[in-house]
Amino acid sequence: MSTRHFLTLMDLSPQEHEELVQRAIELKSMHKNGNRHTPLKNKVLGMIFEKSSTRTRVSFEAGMAHFGGHAIFLSPRDTQLGRGETIEDSARVLSRMVDVIMIRTYEHEKIERFAEYSQVPVINALTDLYHPCQLLADMQTYFEHRGTIRGRTVAWIGDGNNMSHSYINAARQYGFELRLGCPEGYDPDANILEAAGDSVRLLRDPAEAATDADLVVTDVWASMGQEEEQQAREQAFANYQVTAELMGHAKDDALFMHCLPAHRGEEVAAEVIDGPWSVAWDEAENRLHAQKALLEFLLS
Ligand code: CP
Ligand code: NVA
Repeated sequence: MSTRHFLTLMDLSPQEHEELVQRAIELKSMHKNGNRHTPLKNKVLGMIFEKSSTRTRVSFEAGMAHFGGHAIFLSPRDTQLGRGETIEDSARVLSRMVDVIMIRTYEHEKIERFAEYSQVPVINALTDLYHPCQLLADMQTYFEHRGTIRGRTVAWIGDGNNMSHSYINAARQYGFELRLGCPEGYDPDANILEAAGDSVRLLRDPAEAATDADLVVTDVWASMGQEEEQQAREQAFANYQVTAELMGHAKDDALFMHCLPAHRGEEVAAEVIDGPWSVAWDEAENRLHAQKALLEFLLS
């Protein structure tokens, strides 16, 4: 059987997604009950981080420890990857030594090339184009709080960035309607949008996007690698903050999610992320459980 990778949400079937979310919920309860489950004994995860991380690193590393395996943190600062060893050679060598590899990098094409030359599963831990691991946690979190997301309405407010692209793919895989409220010039990738067809709509007015939504989601205005655009982006996104007023357009029992790190007073008001709508802390915790389900799926 050929090696399965997880580079985007489209690498799993809708049924596999559904099973993965249920397994994540199960693993969470097993972990909370002190039930030790060690399916990855003696297995090793290589973690390549070319960008910063708190949640992704800790959740993958802790998840491997829970499962009886081990994780190795690799940064370009102290590996030969950072000194120009090719992606192809790095993939060939590393995949002969470890059982699964997780990569956080800039260009999505790099992770595709790495996967092409890897003998073991490769997991996308964020690229400039997608952040699929985050969506597994988000889908688990929605299910835990409100049941199935199929047929629900989700509002994405702000930048048409990597997270928005993974939300577009999630709309296809999980069967919800997605409304994107993005300022002009910050639209999601046209091809990713087009592939999603009728389940996704691009709007300019954030209030219109949020109207009757079951879930409102946002993310930073300047992603990693866009630090120099911060000021210009603050101006462009000034009317796109998720405030209590904006949440007032959504359904009464609407939830709020943010992949974190958050900037209170920029993309989200403190009263929202720290308020009754927010499930951001469960969402962050679920990175651990959802990725454990993913590791178990890819390695068994
Ligand atoms: N949400 C997320 O991926 O967080 P980190 O950048 O801290 O890993
Ligand atoms: N869009 C953000 C997500 C961080 C988890 C970034 O790429 O920096």
